[in-house]
Amino acid sequence: MAALVMPELKTVGALVAWARQSLVQAGVSNGAQEAMWLLEHALAVRSHQLVSHADRLVSPDVLVYAESLVARRVAREPLQYLLGTQEFCGLEFSVSPAVLIPRPETELLIHHVADHVQTLSDATIVDVGTGSGCVAITLAARLNGRRILAIDRSPEALVVAQRNATRHVVRDRIEWLEGDLLEPLRDLQGADSVDVIVSNPPYISESDWAGLEPDVRVFEPRMALVGGEQGTEFHERLLRESREFLVPGGLLIMEMGAGQAPTVRQLAEQIGGYAALRIIEDAAGIERVVMAQRVE
Ligand SMILES: C[S@@+](CC[C@H](N)C(=O)[O-])C[C@H]1O[C@@H](n2cnc3c(N)ncnc32)[C@H](O)[C@@H]1O
Repeated sequence: MAALVMPELKTVGALVAWARQSLVQAGVSNGAQEAMWLLEHALAVRSHQLVSHADRLVSPDVLVYAESLVARRVAREPLQYLLGTQEFCGLEFSVSPAVLIPRPETELLIHHVADHVQTLSDATIVDVGTGSGCVAITLAARLNGRRILAIDRSPEALVVAQRNATRHVVRDRIEWLEGDLLEPLRDLQGADSVDVIVSNPPYISESDWAGLEPDVRVFEPRMALVGGEQGTEFHERLLRESREFLVPGGLLIMEMGAGQAPTVRQLAEQIGGYAALRIIEDAAGIERVVMAQRVE
C-alpha cells in the first residue's frame, strides 16, 4: 500500500518568519516588507492579522500558494506581477508580464498633458504605447469631454489596458488601436487634428538592456523597454511623424531616459517643425520629460 505523504503544516507565524528570511537572504531589497505584502495577498488577510493569527495553522493549499509566491520573488519576478497590481496617480492598475509596470516618474506626463488641455474643452489626445493603459485611463478619468485614443503594437497589452479601463469605468471613453506608433491614426484622423501626442516609449538602448536588473530584464516585456541601438529611436520617429497629425501649437510630450535629453534636443532641431522645447526633471533631478510644441 502506498504511504500517504502529509503536507508539512506551518503556522502563520512560522510562514512569516520563513518568508522574511528567504527574501532577505536572497538579497531582495525591502525583503522583510515584501514578505508581508506577499503573505497578506496569499492569505487574503490584513497585515496586523499576520501577527494576531500567528499561532493559526495555514491551510495546505494556501500554504502551497504562499510558498510559490515567495519562491518566485526569490527568483526575482517583480512583486507587482505577483500581486497583480500597481498604483499610478492614485488609481490601481492590473499588471501582467504582457505590460510594463507603471513607474512613478511617468505621472509627470499626466500633469503636463492636463495643464496643456485645460483651456481646450474638446481636445484630442493620443497615448502611444499605452501598455497597461495607465496614461490614457488616468487622463480619461481626470479629463471629461476630451477624445482619447490609445495605441499599442502589442495585442496582449491592449487586453490588459482595456480590462483596466473597464475597472475605472472609462472603457468606452477611449478608442483602442493596435499598430505601429502613429500608423493607426492614418485611417482615423486627418492631418493637423490632434492636440496632444503623449508617449512613454521604449527608451533603453540595446547595450544598457543587457545590464538591467534581472527583475526588469528577465520579466518585463522587451518590446516595452528597448528603443534600439541608441535608445532614442522612438523619440526620433515620434518627433518626425507627429508633425503630420498635430494641430499648430499642438504638443508632443514624451518620457525619456537619464542622459537622453541632449540627443532628443538635437533630434528636434534637426527634424524641425517645433517651437519651444521644454525639458522637465523628475523628483530625482533627472531630465525625464520632453515637451515639443508644433510651430503655430
Ligand atoms: C515603456 S512602455 C509604456 C507603457 C505605459 N504607457 C506606461 O507608461 O507604463 C512602451 C509601450 O510601447 C509599446 N510599443 C513598443 N513598440 C511599439 C510600436 N512600434 N508601436 C506602438 N507601441 C509600441 C509596448 O508594447 C509598450 O506597451
